[in-house]
Amino acid sequence: MSGAEIKTVGRYEILAKVGQGAMGVVYRAQDPTIRRVVALKVLPADPVAPTEQTAAQTRSSAGLFEREAQAAGSLLHPNIVTLYDAGRDGSWYYLAMEFVEGGTFAAEIARAGKLDIARAVEVVAVVADALDFAHERGVVHRDIKPANLMILPDQTVKVADFGIARLSSATSTMTGDMMVGTPHYMSPEQVRGGKIDGRSDLFSLAVVLYEALTGRKPFQAETLAAVLHSIMNSSPPPMHEIHAAIPPELSGIASKAIARNAEERYPRGKDMASDLRRFQSAGRGEATVVQAAPPSRKQSAWLGIAAGVLAILLVGGAFALRARSGLSSPAVGYLEFVSEPAGAEIFLDGTVVGRTPYTSEVTAGKHEIEFRKLGFYPATQSTNVEANKRVTIELPMLARKED
Ligand SMILES: Nc1ncnc2c1ncn2[C@@H]1O[C@H](COP(=O)(O)OP(=O)(O)OP(=O)(O)O)[C@@H](O)[C@H]1O
Ligand SMILES: [Mg+2]
Repeated sequence: MSGAEIKTVGRYEILAKVGQGAMGVVYRAQDPTIRRVVALKVLPADPVAPTEQTAAQTRSSAGLFEREAQAAGSLLHPNIVTLYDAGRDGSWYYLAMEFVEGGTFAAEIARAGKLDIARAVEVVAVVADALDFAHERGVVHRDIKPANLMILPDQTVKVADFGIARLSSATSTMTGDMMVGTPHYMSPEQVRGGKIDGRSDLFSLAVVLYEALTGRKPFQAETLAAVLHSIMNSSPPPMHEIHAAIPPELSGIASKAIARNAEERYPRGKDMASDLRRFQSAGRGEATVVQAAPPSRKQSAWLGIAAGVLAILLVGGAFALRARSGLSSPAVGYLEFVSEPAGAEIFLDGTVVGRTPYTSEVTAGKHEIEFRKLGFYPATQSTNVEANKRVTIELPMLARKED
């Protein structure tokens, strides 16, 4: 979709594009009736190949959209981005949300590299309580990650995109489309395609805490397949083994929430929040020096993996299973892939990694990128990514002449 052509979506007047995620575009827009500025998220209702979708699938996707929107719309909480309205306009679903000035926790982590303990603990405790509120009302977020934690200028934290992950995955898997977005925060039960509850969100939140404090994602590998393998089969080293300044007590809180077996995690967000606050008020938020233990990490063998995961692996074309110790992770940077029009297949060094728009973590160094889309000429570019830097690859696609 080209932003320039859009004037209104539903009754909302588009003012500016503010961001883009894996599935949709976010605009600053205005409700003309009450003159309220909203964040309008627009998602394709009939994804990539509408002809492949049966009428039943379209209906069930519409039903799911409504149910999810109703559930998310019932959440009124100071630390949750309020959903005002949802609807469909032609082939687009839209969600009108509270417009949040400020940045995301992802940006804060990227800026700082590693956050100080008190700050990270505070943000995560607030989010754990907000999740508890939602879980109590039967709503699981499903996509807790730093990019979905908004930070207002006064430092208030608000969780964005409640329930939206389900919509995107529903529309994307129905046409056999590949997995989009980042898998690094997914719980093992999500990877398996199993039943999930609030504890899955707490797992993802612990991944956020781990990343914020160590500057490293606990499940980190070069390929999508290896990341998924690592989530399902490995336990990350406790945080204090990576940074001796992290108190083992805090490390223990993250390790508990990140347990592979949901039964071993915190049963509720408020339990995780109160452990974090207890830690904080005990004055342990300051760096303390502890003995660094030598890194140890068991690599377990492949276990049986559900067909859904295999499908993801196959589509991802990522057979190089190099689940490795995160401790020897190479320097990484980020590649953001944007094409006009969107929806092009992305080949990163010869392997399909997703469709535009998409952001991928890559090893620092030189990479070859190619976008391919039916009806368009392939577009290629090579680039050099420096450690911890983000490079945007934005390529226009030239339409092929009809033959
Ligand atoms: N309620 C909001 N108010 C203001 N800006 C927002 C709001 N929600 C999202 N944004 C902006 O739009 C960007 C894209 O958001 P979006 O949710 O589409 O992507 P994401 O969260 O990065 O990834 P994903 O598509 O996987 O959820 C965000 O990074 C943020 O800058
Ligand atoms: Mg988001």
